[in-house]
Amino acid sequence: MRTTTDVLGLDRRHVWHPYASTTHPGPLRRVLDARGTRLVLDGGTGPTEVVDAMASWWCQVHGYRHPDLDAAAHAQVDRFSHVMFGGLTHDPAITLVEKLVEITPEPLSRVFLADSGSVAMEVATKLARQWQIARAAASGSRGSRRTRFAALRGSYHGDTWGVMGLCDPEGGMHSMYAGALEEHLFLPRPPHLDADARASEEWSTAARAAIHEHRDELVAIVVEPILQGAGGMWPWSPECLRTLRELADEYALLLIADEIATGLGRTGTLFACERAGIVPDVLVLGKALTGGYLTQAAVITSEDIAAMISRGPGGALMHGPTFMANPLACAISAASLELLLPTWADNVARLESVLSASLLPLRQHSGVADVRVLGGTAAIELTVPLDMALATDTAIAHGVWLRPFRNLVYARHPYICTTEELQTIATGMTAVVDALTNASNGTGAAA
Ligand SMILES: Cc1ncc(COP(=O)(O)O)c(C=O)c1O
Repeated sequence: MRTTTDVLGLDRRHVWHPYASTTHPGPLRRVLDARGTRLVLDGGTGPTEVVDAMASWWCQVHGYRHPDLDAAAHAQVDRFSHVMFGGLTHDPAITLVEKLVEITPEPLSRVFLADSGSVAMEVATKLARQWQIARAAASGSRGSRRTRFAALRGSYHGDTWGVMGLCDPEGGMHSMYAGALEEHLFLPRPPHLDADARASEEWSTAARAAIHEHRDELVAIVVEPILQGAGGMWPWSPECLRTLRELADEYALLLIADEIATGLGRTGTLFACERAGIVPDVLVLGKALTGGYLTQAAVITSEDIAAMISRGPGGALMHGPTFMANPLACAISAASLELLLPTWADNVARLESVLSASLLPLRQHSGVADVRVLGGTAAIELTVPLDMALATDTAIAHGVWLRPFRNLVYARHPYICTTEELQTIATGMTAVVDALTNASNGTGAAA
């Protein structure tokens, strides 16, 4: 077995990490073990056990090494791990699709199994564009002039080329690509979930005017419903989502709900769209789908939309990744949904109530601009600069794995966290805020 010094050294020499410099790398830890909600990490000074408050970027909802998911994986490995999906089908895909159709609202019943969240968003946007082309063809036009999408400021939809253009063009991490990406229509970020009715009405009036002005150019409206994630952990008004549903209907646009992060219970309803009482035309799921075991995503639309595309030029949805509907991922996703459905509601309600009680008082802290807790997400917006190394060391010293970004210290933890583990997470987050505030004050104690 290699030593941790060897592993970290080889990593530094040869490996790219996400959003990380190779010449000025940040702190790095080796994962020695992962079980339940815990990771065992080694930064070179020996193993430390921490509660994983990131749930491996929000996907590991049932915990690591869950016996049911391990069993599903082993059983499928013993049959076949992968086969192509062109002209072939298999039981794991059918079992998964049947479950997905059961839990998604009508009329969503046609499922495309993609291989990651970003790719699923590419599929969703291509699907919408093909639907517009098919609609135009059905009414006798040659092609459709509708090529742009409407998205929200503060949004994040993935890292691949097409969907980068739907991420916030200024605050987002893809702003350096401006000019090279397609330029879509950005609506202002909707007001907070708890904002008064007037704020939502004003936003809706502005959204109506913008969509009306660009109605002949637009293909679809793309949103992360109710809770924007990587763009700022921002819970937003259900009233505004209802407005977008109405606008989509009025101007023959598809409403694409990117529920890759919000879906499967994360915001306190099974799908975030439920909070607004609406059904999107295209629902995209990922992350928690496999319980965090493997990469898989699902794009779900209605039979009518699928049929329109199939009748249109090309006669098919033009996408087909090599690892589409990977049987191993499908088997694990199906087992993960079995675990999720009876448990997510109570678990997520508990996450919200424990972290609200522990963290909302931090709104009075001198280093804090805001605290936002919704379902299984708790975010502290800082007024002080984020020193990543200090934040990480402090969190680990308090037994928690956190990965803050920009001005946010946040937790998006496994659904199975116990009350005690949630309190450990809250204590760790508070310690990070104190440490960052002290550092910014030049060692003075935090208020
Ligand atoms: C809302 C949303 N959409 C899309 C993605 C991209 O998913 P993936 O990282 O699986 O490509 C993410 C990832 O964080 C996300 O949060």
